[in-house]
Amino acid sequence: MSTTQLPWTILSLLQWTTGYFEENGVSEPRASAEILLAHTLGLSRLDLYLRHDQPLTPEELARFKALIVRRRLGEPVAYLTGHKEFWSLDFLVTPATLIPRPETEVLVEAVLEVCGGEAGEPRSPGPPLNPLLALDVGVGSGALVVALAKELPDLQWLAVDISAAALQVVRENARRHGVGERIAFLQGDLLTPFKPVPCLRLLVANLPYVPRVEWEQLPREIRDYEPRGALLGGEDGLDLIKQVCAQAHHYLQAGGWLGLEVGAGQAGSVMGFLDNTKAYDTLKTVDDYQGIPRVVLAKRSKRN
Ligand SMILES: C[S@@+](CC[C@H](N)C(=O)[O-])C[C@H]1O[C@@H](n2cnc3c(N)ncnc32)[C@H](O)[C@@H]1O
Repeated sequence: MSTTQLPWTILSLLQWTTGYFEENGVSEPRASAEILLAHTLGLSRLDLYLRHDQPLTPEELARFKALIVRRRLGEPVAYLTGHKEFWSLDFLVTPATLIPRPETEVLVEAVLEVCGGEAGEPRSPGPPLNPLLALDVGVGSGALVVALAKELPDLQWLAVDISAAALQVVRENARRHGVGERIAFLQGDLLTPFKPVPCLRLLVANLPYVPRVEWEQLPREIRDYEPRGALLGGEDGLDLIKQVCAQAHHYLQAGGWLGLEVGAGQAGSVMGFLDNTKAYDTLKTVDDYQGIPRVVLAKRSKRN
């Protein structure tokens, strides 16, 4: 980009940047250009088109140019802007947190489908004497817990992550979306911070599930920038999910639900782990938008 070719307008810059990203193999070139330019100018993407002939100041141009360079090197747009939309909510993200994915919205939908009515409606006027309790294990930026806390106002939440840096981000996201007071945040390893008491109405988790062999095949944009500890799930990807499957029933009330996001090809194994516990009377999967079984749901039985 020539800075002597001033003035660059919003539209001419969008066109130039899209072409530059295309030539350099940047994924989603037009969307990347729009989001980064809108971020630089403090505008919405729609505003870019409403103000297409607005010239940029040299200072705006310099800031945008710095972002273009980082994007060309592969840095995800969400880390460059510090924001990602999930469930139509704006989430802060940092390199300490996984960037929320649309697949995880399938888990939100699936949970709302099975327990929205019972957990979502206040049982009686006034503060509940015995609050309904839910847990998100591996909370990350908080996409899951914040979206569900907003949708299910009757639930109190526990949110666990092994990463202290991720917990700082989720705390802020929960505060910004007005649900911080209903969530207790804990740093810890899976379910180990808690005694195995059957008190949970709902347990959700989107834990790392990438198998070791698939790591090298991940796009560089993911491998080089997103936290390894949020992605890698051991040899077959199931190390952490398997542990939660082995223990979750000790924490769920009779009739309580477990909802897990899983990787492509993993749903069968995960259903098997849960079936082995003999603790669930409903086990089902929900497909994502590509037809891949992405969510496993299990309802704690009233027996054992
Ligand atoms: C795939 S990310 C999911 C983040 C968020 N729930 C979402 O859906 O966008 C997995 C998260 O699990 C956390 N994690 C990894 N190992 C863990 C463990 N042993 N105990 C608790 N959290 C863990 C990671 O730090 C990361 O934030």
